[in-house]
Parts: sequence; C-alpha cells; structure tokens
Amino acid sequence: MRVLVLGGTGEARALAARLVAGGAEVVTSLAGRVSAPALPVGGLRVGGFGGVDGLARHLDEEGYDVVVDATHPFAATITGNAVAACARAGTPVLRLHRPGWSEHALAGGFTWVDDVAAARGAAERLGSRPFLTTGRQQLETFATWHDRYVLARVVDPPGWAVPASWEVLQARGPYPYAAEHALLADRRIDVLVTKDSGGALTEAKLAAAHDLGVPVVVVRRPPLPPGVRVVTTVDAAVRAVQAVRAVDGKRA
Ligand SMILES: NC(=O)c1ccc[n+]([C@@H]2O[C@H](COP(=O)([O-])OP(=O)(O)OC[C@H]3O[C@@H](n4cnc5c(N)ncnc54)[C@H](OP(=O)(O)O)[C@@H]3O)[C@@H](O)[C@H]2O)c1
Repeated sequence: MRVLVLGGTGEARALAARLVAGGAEVVTSLAGRVSAPALPVGGLRVGGFGGVDGLARHLDEEGYDVVVDATHPFAATITGNAVAACARAGTPVLRLHRPGWSEHALAGGFTWVDDVAAARGAAERLGSRPFLTTGRQQLETFATWHDRYVLARVVDPPGWAVPASWEVLQARGPYPYAAEHALLADRRIDVLVTKDSGGALTEAKLAAAHDLGVPVVVVRRPPLPPGVRVVTTVDAAVRAVQAVRAVDGKRA
C-alpha cells in the first residue's frame, strides 16, 4: 500500500505516523515554505509538483494507491490541484479537513469575513491595537498600518520590512490559554484577526479574546472542490485508507 500524504499540518504528521505503524509505505509532500518544518515519519519529498500536470505525472510515475490531502484548510490551490490530478491519474483521493470554528461556542460573537482584505477593513472598525494571526503570506495586506501598534505572530520572518510600529512575534503553536490571555492583556490588544484554521492547537486565543472583551475577526475558509470525499479526523482518514486497501485487495 503506497500512500501520498499532502502535508504541512499536524494532522498530516499524525496520519503518516499511524499509516506507517500500520505497515503502509507513506510519502509526505511538503511545499517547502517553512525553513525548519516539523518532519513526518516515513518518506518525504519537498517542493511544488508543477501544477495539475506535474502532480498527475508524479502520480503516474509513483503509482500511489491513494492520496490523502491533509494540507491546511486555507491551502486551496493544492487541494484543487490534487482533486484534478487524481481524477486524471485514476488515483483515489481523500481530503482530511479539520473542523473549523464556525461551530465554536463563541462563533456567533465573531465578525466573519470572506477574505483577508475584508478582515483588514473589519479590524479597522473594531480596534486600533490589532493582533494578526493570519500567517506570514497574508501580512502584506496590512502593510498600510504604519500608524499603529500591530502584533503579528508568524512561524518564519515576514521577508519584507514591516512598519516600525509593529511587533513581530516568531512562534510555533500550540498556544495555551494562559499564555494567550497574558499576551493579549500585556500588549493591550483590542482586536484579534485570524483565519478559520480550526483545530485545538491555536484555538485558545478565541477564549482568551472573549474573556478580555476583545473582538475577533475570522476569515472564512475557501470552499472545497465539489464532490471530493472529506474526512475530519485522523482516525477517519486511517479507516478510509484501509477501506481503499480492502477494495484493492479484492481487485488483486
Ligand atoms: N495557507 C495556510 O494558512 C497554511 C498554514 C499552515 C500550513 N500550511 C501548509 O503550507 C503549505 C503551502 O500552503 P499554501 O496555502 O501556500 O498552499 P496553496 O496556496 O494551496 O498552494 C500553492 C502551491 O504550493 C505548492 N504546494 C502546496 N502545498 C504543497 C504540498 N503539501 N506539497 C507540494 N507542493 C505543495 C503547489 O505548487 P505546485 O502547483 O507547483 O504543485 C501549490 O500549487 C501547504 O502544505 C499547507 O498545508 C498552509
């Protein structure tokens, strides 16, 4: 059983470990964006495939039995490419998509927006000392904020000269509640901006903001490609991969 896991998330690493322990041959693919990524168990390849054509070619050459797209919920391009390339190569594909925060107990109090540009507008209306947790790639959307204190948390440095009034915090989750509460209070944050990444590792900031009376702006997730099979947990992904193996076994 050969499995290609499209990775870059904690779930992808957990899935690779579970599948390898179960005897599968697993290759995890990383985009190569982060300088020192946490590495998965099993095989590894790094870098883009070259669009749908490149990924379809890679699938033909490597003969994977199944692809699990366990990339981040906002990595919409690779998800679309994986669905299109797998259809072309005739390889089963599964999307491991962690639940978002639209069902979070506090979700009704968030300001939901469609994209990061809209998040900037909403945050400007709600506060003047923002905390940006939308990730390095989107930071430049806020570059005009040179007239205010901004706390921006990123894994890798932004790679461009952020305004002098900003504080860039280089950190990697998980971020526990007490530390999030202390950070928001200490920096006198008055609006939090986040993407609907979902998951437990970065969720505590939502409760911390609520408890401090800090409004939260949340960018909605991009839509999934129509018809793609979705599972929301690593357990369900393992079962679905095993089901592909069972079908393959019957065919053999
Ligand atoms: N977006 C986020 O907020 C976020 C947060 C945490 C982690 N990540 C991780 O960072 C990676 C890049 O995210 P993104 O939002 O920049 O992706 P994206 O916009 O969906 O993808 C852009 C291009 O990057 C390449 N790529 C993306 N993921 C890849 C993977 N796992 N293996 C090989 N190539 C990949 C593909 O290049 P080609 O077309 O050349 O194949 C893809 O077309 C993903 O693996 C994702 O899981 C993203």
